[in-house]
Amino acid sequence: MSYVSVDQAVKLLRAGGVVGLPTETVYGLAGRIDQEDALKLIFSTKQRPFFDPLIVHVASSAEVQGLAAEWPEIFQILAARFWPGPLTMVTQKTAAVSPLITSGLETVAIRCPKHPLALEVIRKLGVPVAAPSANRFGKTSPTRPEHVDSEFGGSVAVIDGGACEVGLESTVVDAHLRDGRWHLRVLRPGGVSRRELAAELQKHHLNFSIERAESAASPGHLKAHYQPTNPVVILDRDFSDEDIKTRVQSQLGVRVDQVIRMELGSEPEQAARRLYQDFRELSRQEHGVIAIRRSQTGPDWEAIWDRIERASSLTMS
Ligand code: TXA
Ligand code: MG
Repeated sequence: MSYVSVDQAVKLLRAGGVVGLPTETVYGLAGRIDQEDALKLIFSTKQRPFFDPLIVHVASSAEVQGLAAEWPEIFQILAARFWPGPLTMVTQKTAAVSPLITSGLETVAIRCPKHPLALEVIRKLGVPVAAPSANRFGKTSPTRPEHVDSEFGGSVAVIDGGACEVGLESTVVDAHLRDGRWHLRVLRPGGVSRRELAAELQKHHLNFSIERAESAASPGHLKAHYQPTNPVVILDRDFSDEDIKTRVQSQLGVRVDQVIRMELGSEPEQAARRLYQDFRELSRQEHGVIAIRRSQTGPDWEAIWDRIERASSLTMS
């Protein structure tokens, strides 16, 4: 156990340390953006490659000024509606943003989280923090403080902010103006759906379109990611346990004693909140395989299915 109060966390961050920070999406591994050692510690703690850039977390829109060289009208509209909240916006960076944060890119990803303890930490520290999800690289993101604790074997100080309300990561977008029309690109689907983004932009009578970017546009958004310990199999139709066992054993070469069926239910918000927690719980059973029937695939399920796809090792159709 390594739980700390907000004030203790701020002290650790001041000294260049890293802290498990509750946000409404998932727990982050936070370090101050103006200390290279803290940033390096984030990467080494997570065993994260340096080509995967970090999100800068601010406590208010006002802090964007020092970080972003451009903050277009479309981002102002979206920030006014969705901040604090699970939306990350990518724009040109200023010299104040270390290339360690952006993996050498000229752009920076910024978001204002909604969790009151995250906001309190950033405000008290007086400096924005960079924070990737607080899990080892490629693994399932933590949605409870004890997940962070077990992920790093108790070696990382964590603020207990309870269970995350959203349960999966923020939506990451960038925007380009071409011939008077805004092209908003979703680099990673997440806590704010495309439908919600569109509704807000329509209200402001903006000329826009929303596209889903190729995954390469968000460097860290790799095809295989978020993987729980037990393999995940997506079922395009009904299969018997025997069929699943046989296929997994022959195609993945792992022993399977039990097929564990994971139900998503009918409410996307609830499904998102439970997804990573269920991945972890259903991995406790040794030699189990987690089977998920492909159902509920409307626009409100985009982020959930993005994560399941990346977490999965096999699709049976
Ligand atoms: O909800 C979240 O966003 C959580 C919490 C802790 O805030 N954070 C999170 O961070 O998910 P991380 O590091 O696991 O994912 C950051 C994503 C990656 O897909 C990365 O490629 C993308 O943001 N990203 C960061 N900077 C970028 C940039 N300059 N251009 C494009 N994508 C960027
Ligand atoms: Mg992550």
